[in-house]
Amino acid sequence: MSTTPVSTGTLTTGVWSGPGRVNLIGEHTDYNDGFVFPFAIEYRTSVALAVRDDGRIRVSSSFDPEPVEVALADLAGLFPDRRDEVIEWARYPLGVAWALLEATGADVASVTGVDLTFTSDVPVGAGLSSSAAIESATAAALNDVWGLGLDRVALARAGRRAENEAVGAPTGIMDQMASLLGRADAGTFLDCRSLEAEVVDLGFAPAGLELLVIDTKVTHAHSTGGYGERRAACERGAAIMGVAALRDLSVDDLPRAQELMDDVTFRRVRHVVTEDQRVLDAVATLRSDGPRAIGPLLDASHVSMRDDFEISVPELDLAVETARAAGAIGARMTGGGFGGAAIALIDHELVGPATAAVEAAFVDAGFAAPHIFTVHPSEGARRDS
Ligand code: GLA
Repeated sequence: MSTTPVSTGTLTTGVWSGPGRVNLIGEHTDYNDGFVFPFAIEYRTSVALAVRDDGRIRVSSSFDPEPVEVALADLAGLFPDRRDEVIEWARYPLGVAWALLEATGADVASVTGVDLTFTSDVPVGAGLSSSAAIESATAAALNDVWGLGLDRVALARAGRRAENEAVGAPTGIMDQMASLLGRADAGTFLDCRSLEAEVVDLGFAPAGLELLVIDTKVTHAHSTGGYGERRAACERGAAIMGVAALRDLSVDDLPRAQELMDDVTFRRVRHVVTEDQRVLDAVATLRSDGPRAIGPLLDASHVSMRDDFEISVPELDLAVETARAAGAIGARMTGGGFGGAAIALIDHELVGPATAAVEAAFVDAGFAAPHIFTVHPSEGARRDS
């Protein structure tokens, strides 16, 4: 990547990067104060940062020829109310700068202006959180250069605030935490209420396993439609049950929930409550019996999202069924749903045949060709040079 800043008269201070993530299990549980178990992947977004002395922030990206520039002092007036004036991709880094300044109460006059130049190899719209990759890279860079001294959880909170208020997507905090806390060969088991995170060895490579990503190329956006509706149904369910969040229910509460709510709300609640349990079971099973034993939990997670939460699409179902028929130990859609990617845990030798089987099944179904590749648990956001 180029480390040359776009504007003149500035000096590149350094390059930082943040990874995308896959979620192994625990979907739509984060904003219900529940449990998730994602890991950071080797696909990353890099940002070259150059300081400038005029109190302005300029963001540019290899995806868009038009840079966006604004005075740091004007960010507070822009977000959240006037965010529509900013082109969507630029709301992520500018939103992070805004959220960091708000979180620390830093005087805008005391921090330096910056040029941020982004490049990325995280597939966009694939459910691999290209947005968290931008946010974590930006947060890590500005935290260092502005000397804010924030810890990783505080940086994740700033990323989520940018996503919620500057972009307008009502997401939880899983993606930012995964992207900031990632470790090679390990997953991040996260309690989304306390924000306590545990690093859990995945052991895929020693077991001869790969995690295959099947990007269906069906695009989705969480700032519109289905995601927010699902979140509202969960909040409704929690209110009916008289709890602060669905995290406070267990599987034993489901019969009572069924009596009290309409069928759709009940099924949304049942997904979240059983998914929280599946995350706990997956972590325990991984520790006791190793990665080969978690397949049925991945499969059950998919069925729950398909039938109860209703966020799958035919392409994701076909990817999951075909991967499983081709020998995957377990498979499920990953991420927010309505498109994006499925994951399949599979023996190393079966990656080629399973890829061919999924590609052929997509041709037969008349679906667009999927993009299929493996991912490996990788390090979280960091300074690279
Ligand atoms: C998206 C959101 C996350 C999470 C997942 C679903 O990735 O950004 O916060 O809610 O969907 O698990």
